[in-house]
Amino acid sequence: MTTGGRTLRRPADRVGYACSECGHEEAKWVGRCPGCEAWNSFVQHNPSAFTNGSVIAGAPVEIARLDTHHEPRLPVGLSEFDRVLGGGIVPGSLVLLGGDPGIGKSTLLLQVAARFGESGGDVLYLAGEESASQIKLRAARLGIPGSGLFVLSDNNIETSLATADDVKPSLLIVDSIQTVHSSTADQAPGSIAQLRQCTMTLMRWAKERSVPVFVIGHVTKDGEIAGPRLLEHIVDVVLYLEGERFSSYRLLRGVKNRFGSVDETGVFEMTGTGMRGVANPSEAFIAERASDAAGSAVVPVMEGSRPVLLEVQALTSPTVTPAPRRTANGLEVNRLLLISAVLSRRLDLPLAGLDVIANVVGGLRISEPAADLALALAIISSHRDQPLAADTVALGEVGLTGELRSVAHLERRLLEAERLGFKRCILPQATLNRQRPRTEIQLLPVPDLRAAVRAAFQ
Ligand code: TYD
Ligand code: MG
Repeated sequence: MTTGGRTLRRPADRVGYACSECGHEEAKWVGRCPGCEAWNSFVQHNPSAFTNGSVIAGAPVEIARLDTHHEPRLPVGLSEFDRVLGGGIVPGSLVLLGGDPGIGKSTLLLQVAARFGESGGDVLYLAGEESASQIKLRAARLGIPGSGLFVLSDNNIETSLATADDVKPSLLIVDSIQTVHSSTADQAPGSIAQLRQCTMTLMRWAKERSVPVFVIGHVTKDGEIAGPRLLEHIVDVVLYLEGERFSSYRLLRGVKNRFGSVDETGVFEMTGTGMRGVANPSEAFIAERASDAAGSAVVPVMEGSRPVLLEVQALTSPTVTPAPRRTANGLEVNRLLLISAVLSRRLDLPLAGLDVIANVVGGLRISEPAADLALALAIISSHRDQPLAADTVALGEVGLTGELRSVAHLERRLLEAERLGFKRCILPQATLNRQRPRTEIQLLPVPDLRAAVRAAFQ
């Protein structure tokens, strides 16, 4: 079927109003934004200014007739980075790297740029946040000679891209999207309209020249700067760099990837000479474990498609405040509240007069309920002042009645534990009803928390 050369066009453009703080759109001007409740933030905007400018035109093609062609990929050579991208950078792709200020975004992309520059292609680094000499200092610190790496200090996206067309780089890095502005939008740099306009312009530039573009965007923990979140639907790939401020480990996570899966997570360590890929995260995270200390349990969690062993620690101590406190680092505090309540009610553990502090070693965050059992056992171990067997891992979600619920990817988790020398695993009986893992590890299946405690402290 063809449309006989007819053109598919966008609906007629209409002029509306948008909040310059959060991007909320309304047909009429309003004094207070219904989206973010900011006053006087509404400005007129023309939706066509936000499109990529090209008219969508073309005849429909039957999928069966389309060629399967694989996106070529350019591996950077930093294996943890390539892993998250799905094997390497796709030419013409626009990648947004988000994260808290100071987490290491500029450092990581400068290293990526250096690798890229070494392999022959020139890289243009558009620096809006720092001066060229500051970037030179950072490069020196990272041991980057900087051949093939060009720095441009320019805040205007149109003139920057004109310069880029002279340099003809194989990779363009924009640090950061909050500091560039476009002359075609009249709002202030960093405003929603500017962020969108600049991102659209970069998208078109990347696609027309088949040159990959990396864009850095700051986000705060509570997502206060809405910017990068709003850009997520425009760009091809969204990566977030995460980590606790005082820990040296950083996780690079894919949140969106038009060319691959978002399951992969890269693990890095921030060292004095930049970000170093951690090829063996489990070893790193349990390396400093004192195996005969009370209040510690090891759990194999899934980081994307990769199992990682993490140490969960707990400390119970007499309350000095009017109400006992529950503090969780790297775990959801709601999970800690739930486990504490189940331990008090189902196992008669007298936690009412005790503070409970829980911590995941290495500054990582666990978001899986599969770590519930390890947390429960760590609390009991601390309360009894009795260490768990050093060669044992614990796995399972705890329900409100104290029952243990099954977890997914059992075999992969067990293989990782086995690889690191663990000999036994306490796990929910229910898990084994569905799958029989091949493993050398001795399995201790238990139906509930009470039985798990018996198995752990026999
Ligand atoms: P940076 O990449 O500037 O963060 P972002 O671009 O996300 O704001 O990194 C900032 C921190 O990293 C800063 O506190 C110093 C530290 N750092 C290292 O620990 N090692 C290094 O080699 C470099 C370059 C920075
Ligand atoms: Mg930076």
